[in-house]
Amino acid sequence: MSDQFDVIIIGGGPGGYNAAIRAGQLGLKSACIDKRGAFGGTCLNVGCIPSKALLYTSELYEEARDKLPKLGIKTTTELDLAGMMAHKTKVVGELTKGVEFLLKKNKSEAIVGVARIASPGKVEVKLNDGSTRTLETKHIVTATGSEVAPLSDVTIDEERIVSSTGALSLKTVPKRLLVVGAGYIGLELGSVWRRLGSEVTVVEFLDRVTPGLDGEVAKQFQRLLARQGMKFQLSTKVVGVEKKSEALSVTLEPAAGGAQSALETDILLVAIGRRPYTDGLGLVEAGVTLDKRGRVVTDAHYRTNVEGIWAIGDCREGAMLAHKAEDEAVACIENIAGRSGHVNYDAIPAVVYTHPEVASVGKTEEELKSVGTAYKIGKFPFTANARAKTIASTEGFAKVLADAKADRVLGVHIIGAEAGNLIQEAAFAIEIGAASEDIARTSHAHPTLTEALRQSAMGVEGWAMQM
Ligand code: FAD
Ligand code: NAI
Repeated sequence: MSDQFDVIIIGGGPGGYNAAIRAGQLGLKSACIDKRGAFGGTCLNVGCIPSKALLYTSELYEEARDKLPKLGIKTTTELDLAGMMAHKTKVVGELTKGVEFLLKKNKSEAIVGVARIASPGKVEVKLNDGSTRTLETKHIVTATGSEVAPLSDVTIDEERIVSSTGALSLKTVPKRLLVVGAGYIGLELGSVWRRLGSEVTVVEFLDRVTPGLDGEVAKQFQRLLARQGMKFQLSTKVVGVEKKSEALSVTLEPAAGGAQSALETDILLVAIGRRPYTDGLGLVEAGVTLDKRGRVVTDAHYRTNVEGIWAIGDCREGAMLAHKAEDEAVACIENIAGRSGHVNYDAIPAVVYTHPEVASVGKTEEELKSVGTAYKIGKFPFTANARAKTIASTEGFAKVLADAKADRVLGVHIIGAEAGNLIQEAAFAIEIGAASEDIARTSHAHPTLTEALRQSAMGVEGWAMQM
């Protein structure tokens, strides 16, 4: 096997494997290196995919138990946690194998091992058998992703004090689960275990959940999760955890300081964010600049300050989302191939896959206010949407923010059933620079949930019809 490549991609996650696919399509000879042993990165192995499998099955379980009897379907429901986990493992296995197939199809050599940049143009890989292979290349793409951000003085053992990885594989349903961090992971995995029977308490440092998402949506989101039984302690921090034989004793303190309190739990999930992962990569030695959060600094074309070294995905700035990594992969490889790839960051959707789902794209009201952009709002509740009624899922609303003068869509925020699918129309609208009137005047099939988005777009000009 030749050790000479056009491009070597370090990391086989959504950033890395999509870079390898695009490289193959553009006729570049590539290798994709991952130390994990199964390609697909965090997303396929311990992130997006296993969490969505558990979110789906736990939602079905709760619906079968609590919702179906209200809709005229009698059921007896019994949890088979091992069976649920088996479904998750099967899906992960199939998808990671699928990535290997795609790498092969696109003539990218898949290498399992730990990669280190020896110098620009040279990558050393420590293979599983202990040997080292030295590869030469014109370009190196760093796609090494991210890792769990630690909580000071709390050691994750992945059994009782877990990160998302441990929380995806608990062997029994904990009676009590304490989640630190009311972000994506805390609320998604907190929902999974609450549905399966845990008493879930979420401790959040800030005075709101899901920072970064539209404030009005976040408020409604917290209210709905609380109604489902999730407890919240906002403006609170965890300052210590003591492992006792029967339980964990967690010491809490108001975020602003003050009297401490104690709470007992069986499992503690640390979900306070993720940080870029570039350990042992040799980036700094090669002269590549990292920012103070450890992220690889690049220009808008994904070039670092060192000629021939590029970076994409979670290890550089921006939202830590699989599709953001994928979009950057395509743009970066196109730039390497002499084309002009770019990513429109205003059109990258974000989805929290709870029930109801929360989805957003573009600017929030808070962001528009902070830069003084004049905007109009259209809003429509799912209680007034016929399809939402038929599926007995009427919680939430859709909100369209449009430029006050030009009517261009600036942001769309949806909380409701299927929000993650509904948001895609809004992402497309922003991508093509559409006006809210374009959404309002586009025919939407009846009865669908998409009509809620259309009605909220109509609401921008005050002519929502079904309220
Ligand atoms: P990664 O997927 O992290 O891949 C990087 C790979 O590089 C890893 O496999 C690592 O082993 C490898 N690597 C690192 N260093 C080296 C080295 N020196 N040598 C060889 N290999 C190396 N995002 C979404 O968009 N939707 C979701 O629903 C979603 N759910 C998530 C759920 C959870 C629980 C978590 C933790 C994350 C979730 N994410 C989700 C985020 C998503 O997983 C990441 O944004 C995405 O995986 C980033 O892709 P990446 O290619 O940049 O990095
Ligand atoms: P997050 O950034 O979404 O949320 C972390 C939360 O923890 C924030 O609300 C933050 O204020 C809080 N926090 C920080 N320090 C704290 C402390 N000491 N005590 C209490 N609270 C504290 O991070 P999370 O949930 O860990 O997820 C990491 C990333 O993974 C996400 O930002 C997202 O990019 C990605 N992800 C995406 C998903 C999706 O797309 N559906 C699902 C899961 C993860």
